[in-house]
Amino acid sequence: MSPSSTHPSDQNIDLNLRTLLRDATHPHHVQLNRHLLLAGLIQPNYSLNHYHTLLGTYYQLYALLEERINAFLKGHPEAFAYDERCKLPWLINDLAYFKIDPLTLPTLSPSATDFLSIETVGQLVGVLYVVEGSTLGGQMISQLLTKNLGFTRDTGSCFFTGYGENTMLFWQRFIAFSDTLTGDKQQCQAAVDAACQTFQLFNQVLDDAAHQGRITVA
Ligand code: HEM
Repeated sequence: MSPSSTHPSDQNIDLNLRTLLRDATHPHHVQLNRHLLLAGLIQPNYSLNHYHTLLGTYYQLYALLEERINAFLKGHPEAFAYDERCKLPWLINDLAYFKIDPLTLPTLSPSATDFLSIETVGQLVGVLYVVEGSTLGGQMISQLLTKNLGFTRDTGSCFFTGYGENTMLFWQRFIAFSDTLTGDKQQCQAAVDAACQTFQLFNQVLDDAAHQGRITVA
């Protein structure tokens, strides 16, 4: 991964890694929340076409992210148990509900797929911070999708329902894992860089999707 502009300084390196990650990625989170395909998710008039485009784009994005996470864990199986956290099946359920064939979805641009590599545990933590953190907002989003559009876990919002009532448990377990790197300057730096870059990847891929327009519904 190339270096990011945000760096934990020598003074704040003793802060726990979660605090470093939250502070460094906050502007990216704010930017993402304003994205055309995401901002409407919590509004009553969110367009179904945008929701389909979002699910299709997330399918390609999480396929990439989980492929990179699993490739790293294959060589370092002791690092973290990701199997029970796989999110691609949730997206497959939602796409199936809306009769969208994943094979018809536009693929990610080469610049997106070249963007992300995970070669250290620090980078793994940075990528997981974004992937796991996205389940937190998912709790609020899934409730509003039910209220506004009638979607439930089995009827179109499996991804945003995510871990459901176990969300905080999964999050706290991940945070405990990330905190094992606290104090390791090099790994913390790698985690912060990787988290910022993963947020940027979300932004880039969602921008590409918004410009590509409609996806095909079978
Ligand atoms: C409209 C879209 C989104 C909304 C409304 C939203 C909302 C939220 C909320 C309310 C929290 C705090 C939850 C809590 O502390 O219990 C949160 C945390 C978080 N979200 Fe989002 N989110 C959205 C999209 C995303 C996306 C797409 C990502 C990742 C790509 C993401 C990554 C994170 C992360 C990493 C945290 C944890 C921050 C921390 O360390 O405390 N969010 N989000």
